[in-house]
Amino acid sequence: MTSLPPDLNPQHLPQHIAVIMDGNGRWATSRGLTRIAGHRQGAKTLKELLRCCKDWGIKALTAYAFSTENWRRPVEEVDFLMLLFERLLRRELAQMHQEGVRISFIGDLSALPQTLQIQMQRSMAETLHNQAIHFTVAVNYGSRNEITRVCRQVAELVERGELSPEEVNESFVTQHLYTADTPEPDLLIRTSGEMRLSNFLLWQMAYTEMYFTDILWPDFDREAFHQALLSYQKRDRRFGQVKSAIAV
Ligand code: FPP
Repeated sequence: MTSLPPDLNPQHLPQHIAVIMDGNGRWATSRGLTRIAGHRQGAKTLKELLRCCKDWGIKALTAYAFSTENWRRPVEEVDFLMLLFERLLRRELAQMHQEGVRISFIGDLSALPQTLQIQMQRSMAETLHNQAIHFTVAVNYGSRNEITRVCRQVAELVERGELSPEEVNESFVTQHLYTADTPEPDLLIRTSGEMRLSNFLLWQMAYTEMYFTDILWPDFDREAFHQALLSYQKRDRRFGQVKSAIAV
């Protein structure tokens, strides 16, 4: 277990961090390795980050592992990623459960291989009541798809007379997203120099602080994370208000 670096204020840590793990492919090709080797290394980095978040008292981590657009990658890469998710789950579930990690998967899981879906459902059910940290993995996830799904649910409920248009408000939408039981991310970290959201948690990140770094995901180590948190702690979060109006 590692303790929080002394220059970080434990009272002012983000409670929920979202990560876009970009740069696995470039990390691998720059070393003469296959892209697949980059994803394998990227998974190790994620595991380390999860442990670090838990040790430092951060209560939720959400990782974008596979987007609705990622199906367009070469079939061998897609197949490998599916295999990697399944293999990691089988290998790591017992340990994560023991450490009090609650695991959730968000996205359209119905399009994933059947054996992977079973493994995902099992790990969500088994860890449901764990409290140390909530680890969410977005797989076959796309924010527009998620919001469209809510619109369809609203239309169906209204059509059946079970919901009136006046009842449709922000809270209703929030409660019908995949992330209904998770607070909004305080901090988004995206690696590899890309500065966009790529259809990730668009509704949920309306007031999230963004941190972009040139470091490639497999190299995003504890010190890089420390730097991201230092940057976060320097931000002045106003949520659209002026500072004096926010209760402290
Ligand atoms: C982006 O880098 C990375 C991905 C699309 C895959 C991320 C998946 C992992 C790190 C495995 C995580 C495992 C679990 C269980 C969650 P890229 O391939 O787009 O890299 P590039 O931009 O350099 O090509």
